Amino acid sequence: MSTPAVLLAAPIPDFLRAPLEAAYTCHELKDAEPHFASLRAVVPLGGTVLSTEMLDRLPALEIVSVMGVGYDGVPIPYCQKRGIRVTNTPDVLTDDVADIATALVLMTSRRLVESNRHLHAGKWPTAGAFPLAHALRGKTAGILGLGRIGKAIAHRLEAHGMKIAYHGRSAQNVPWAYLADLKALAAESDFLVVACPGGPETHKLVDSAILAALGPEGTLINIARGSVVDETALIHALKTNVIRGAGLDVFENEPQVPAELTELDHVVLLPHVGSATHETRRAMANLVIENLAAHFAGKDLLTPVC
Ligand code: 8YV
Repeated sequence: MSTPAVLLAAPIPDFLRAPLEAAYTCHELKDAEPHFASLRAVVPLGGTVLSTEMLDRLPALEIVSVMGVGYDGVPIPYCQKRGIRVTNTPDVLTDDVADIATALVLMTSRRLVESNRHLHAGKWPTAGAFPLAHALRGKTAGILGLGRIGKAIAHRLEAHGMKIAYHGRSAQNVPWAYLADLKALAAESDFLVVACPGGPETHKLVDSAILAALGPEGTLINIARGSVVDETALIHALKTNVIRGAGLDVFENEPQVPAELTELDHVVLLPHVGSATHETRRAMANLVIENLAAHFAGKDLLTPVC
C-alpha cells in the first residue's frame, strides 16, 4: 500500500524533507502536476501563497500543514468550506522572533549597523568617534498586534526601560495602555513595532498617514509581514525624513528588496530571519511532522488553525 501523497509547496529544509520523505510519497511543486489527483496534504512555509485555483485542482486534499506561525498565504474560509484542515507552528518561534524585534530596536536606536560599518571602514582613527545615538530608557514602544509575539516583544522592551502601548482588535487584560486608534498609537510611539498577522484585514495598515503620525523622531520596526506596511509610502517617509528610521525583517515582495531601501543608511534590513535558528526551525519542522502524523492516524491535531 502506498503512503499518503504530500506536496512540498516551498523549498523546505532537509530536516523536514527527510522525515516527510520517509513517511509519505512526496512531490515537489515543479513536478507535482501529474499527481494532483492523489495529493492528500500540502506543506507550505509561512509566506507561501496557495491560491484557491490551485487548491481546486487537488480534489483529495485533506490537510495543509504550514511550517510557520503565519498562515496568511492559505485561504482559510475556502479550506473551511471544503473541510480541509490547516495547522501552523505557533509558540515555538515566539522567543526568537521577539529577540529579532528587540535587536532591530537596539540596532536602529543605537545605530549599531552604521557604527559597525564606521569601524570596519577604518574611519575610527581618521574620522573620530561615531556620532551619538538615542537611548531606549523612557521611550515608548507601540506594539501593533499584541498576540503571543507582540507580548514577548513588549516584555523584552519593558526590560530595556521602555513604556509600552498597543493597538489591536480589542483591549486585553495586560498592564499596558490600549489605544483603539492606530494613528494615535503611532503618534504616542518612538518605535512602532508591527507584530500583527498578515492578510486582507491588515493589508497596508501602516500607510503614509500612520508614518506621518509616527513622526520625525519615530522608527518603524516590522517583524510580521511586509504586506502590513505600504512599502512605497515607507520609502518616501524615510527619504523625506517623515520618520527617523526603520528596522525591517520582512518585505512586500520577498526575497526582492527595493534598491531604494538598501541604499539608505538609516534603515536596518534583515532577510526574514525572525525564526531562523537551528533550534526553532527544527521545533517548527517537528510540529509539521507531528500534525501530519496525528491527522493520518485519525488523532487530534496539535496546533490546528481550522
Ligand atoms: C518563516 C514566518 O519565514 O512563521 C512564519 O510565519 O514567516 C517564518 O517563521 C517561515 O515560515 C520559514 O519556515
